[in-house]
Amino acid sequence: MKVKTQTLLNDCYGKYALAAINVFTMEQVLAVFEAAEKAESPVIIQTTPVAREYAGAEMILSMIATASRMFPKVVYSLHLDHGNEPHIEAALDSGQYSSVMIDASHDIFSTDVKRTSEVVRKAHALGIPVEAELGVLSGIEDDMEIEDSLAKYTKPEEVLDFVTKTKCDSLAIAVGTSHGAYKFSGNQGIRFDILEKIQSLLPRFPLVLHGGSSVNQNEVQRINKFGGNIKTGSRGVSDEEIKQAIQLGVCKVNIATDLRVLWTGVHREFFHQKPDLFDPIIPGKIYRNELIETILRKFDLLGSTGKAKNFN
Ligand code: 13P
Repeated sequence: MKVKTQTLLNDCYGKYALAAINVFTMEQVLAVFEAAEKAESPVIIQTTPVAREYAGAEMILSMIATASRMFPKVVYSLHLDHGNEPHIEAALDSGQYSSVMIDASHDIFSTDVKRTSEVVRKAHALGIPVEAELGVLSGIEDDMEIEDSLAKYTKPEEVLDFVTKTKCDSLAIAVGTSHGAYKFSGNQGIRFDILEKIQSLLPRFPLVLHGGSSVNQNEVQRINKFGGNIKTGSRGVSDEEIKQAIQLGVCKVNIATDLRVLWTGVHREFFHQKPDLFDPIIPGKIYRNELIETILRKFDLLGSTGKAKNFN
């Protein structure tokens, strides 16, 4: 059952968070739905513009729609992640998205306000909620790389003005996480001092944590053991950080890297151990099953397991 993203976000504030999972392939689409059905967990399925280009927008949207018919009990919403105006227009025209994100965070404040407000006006006219972003995350997201030196924490003193002016429905904030496999090293971690200030200025307003992957170090070791060369010595977002962030108003946790790292680990191990095989469906099945387990653990961590009943 597809529902408005805002319906999901309103239910979870301060209690649990939604996994917002980026999908690119058929195996990922099926694993998300299968895990959500098993856990009776609501879920947000996300497509980035690159996902729409890779499979073709029609193909990825058809896969999601088909999966929702195969798993009719699953409560989900479909979100456009990191859109710009043309992507958002295409998503709104398709009539299939439950929410869109305008990422104008790389612009100066006034331009971010202007671009976001315009998108909000168009999306709200169609009853579609909008996620906006204030502050800049570093790291690699699909085809875009932002250097650490260009990352900027969200300034708490700007958030109320931004939300009031743009009328956005949820806000992605930059509190130290980054996209990709290399998030924190040394003593780095989520800046809870910033997050706390933001929440106190925007009470009950849904906040979004981009860069929410945990980057399982066992998975990194598996990749490197079987011929990969992923840098070690940094970490993703810890379980404790996720739990604390939920208490401070984070309702949506974006996850893409954990799916990719798992894919790489499964396939590197498989083809290393079975160098004579060449059939994609054998490792494909292993990936799908391991991904289901990974997503089930995410639902437990975020506290969304069993919450689908809140929407019936
Ligand atoms: P990760 O790279 O931590 O998975 O974050 C993904 C994300 O924020 C997508 O918008």
